[in-house]
Amino acid sequence: MISFGSSLFCYYDIVKIIGIETSCDETAAAIVEDGNRLLSNVIATSMDLHAQYGGVVPEIAARSHIEAITPVINQAFADADCEWSDVDGIAVTYGAGLGGSLLVGVQTAKTLALINNKPLYAINHVEGHIYANFITETSLQGYTLPSRQPEFPMLGLIVSGGHSQLVLWQNHFNYRLLGQTRDDAIGEAFDKVAKIIGLPYPGGPSISKAALNGNPSAFEFPKARLSNPYDFSFSGLKTAVLRTAQELIGEDHRFESFRIAERLSDAHKYDIAASFQNIAIETVVDKTVQAYEEFRPKSVVIGGGVASSQELRRQLAERLPAAIEYSDPKLCTDNGAMIAALGCYHAQLEQPTADPTTLDIAPSLSM
Ligand code: KG4
Ligand code: ZN
Repeated sequence: MISFGSSLFCYYDIVKIIGIETSCDETAAAIVEDGNRLLSNVIATSMDLHAQYGGVVPEIAARSHIEAITPVINQAFADADCEWSDVDGIAVTYGAGLGGSLLVGVQTAKTLALINNKPLYAINHVEGHIYANFITETSLQGYTLPSRQPEFPMLGLIVSGGHSQLVLWQNHFNYRLLGQTRDDAIGEAFDKVAKIIGLPYPGGPSISKAALNGNPSAFEFPKARLSNPYDFSFSGLKTAVLRTAQELIGEDHRFESFRIAERLSDAHKYDIAASFQNIAIETVVDKTVQAYEEFRPKSVVIGGGVASSQELRRQLAERLPAAIEYSDPKLCTDNGAMIAALGCYHAQLEQPTADPTTLDIAPSLSM
């Protein structure tokens, strides 16, 4: 750790942190310096193994993490041209996520912290998604990064397979949860609707692709109205899609969802995909615009797999009176870099470290 600064300004440390992420089906490790410089980013995914089931199978994910974790961490060091003596700490996702998956990352990080005598930082996965936006530099090939870091106050929209949240940050570690989903996350709704209409997992990219051929006004799907305007609910929308699909094939609500896809025409699939995507995205954009108008943040950042959605980017560009810089798609879905970036701020701002003998997983961790 190197200290920098001048006598007039407060001192800060340049830190290099390895981030470990295993909350769902990606086994990921990355090294980030100073919260903004990406030195390596290695991701192994078991997604192909889950595709045949239309969703993540927890036991398969956990087993895949066990096989991948050591090679992934070794590769992160090799790509960054670093050794253990070069890093100042280990950041690991300890929640929220699948229990069996989290256990592999947390047990590995605890063991490595003890063996290498490094501080351990326990990271909330959902906060991590937002910190992907703080990564602005890399010499790695194939990354398009924001030109500068977000400024506080910062409005964060987290839209992933497991989360839908709107959060207002006054500063690092000082934030307020404005609202969150009451039932399904938006990415989960994309995945479930894709399954109903017979599109491959993960549903987000396959619905986006199908929607290009469909009419977004073909079906009028509902938007949930909730007492907290910043909360989300997507289960009613998913049920409305199911009922529409059943009607289109001349069946009623008793007809099993897994038998619908084979009887739907391609044209109907495309129209459902386009109409569903339009309303799901409009819902999160409505709330983001409303929060922007109420709180007037200096920056707006988007995190999570659904941040890759071109339709989300298009609607935000059209309706939000502020420009958004997006992180690279490889840093929007689950990755170790976002965990390492947030870990750098834990280290620099002297947040409490975790005890490597007792740190436990927190599958239902909230913000
Ligand atoms: O952040 P992430 O990798 O995992 C979680 O933390 O949940 O997000 C995965 C989710 C999946 O539900 C996937 O369908 C969705 O992100 N997704 C998209 C797109 N790309 C990925 N949703 C809509 N449009 C996309 N282009
Ligand atoms: Zn995630």
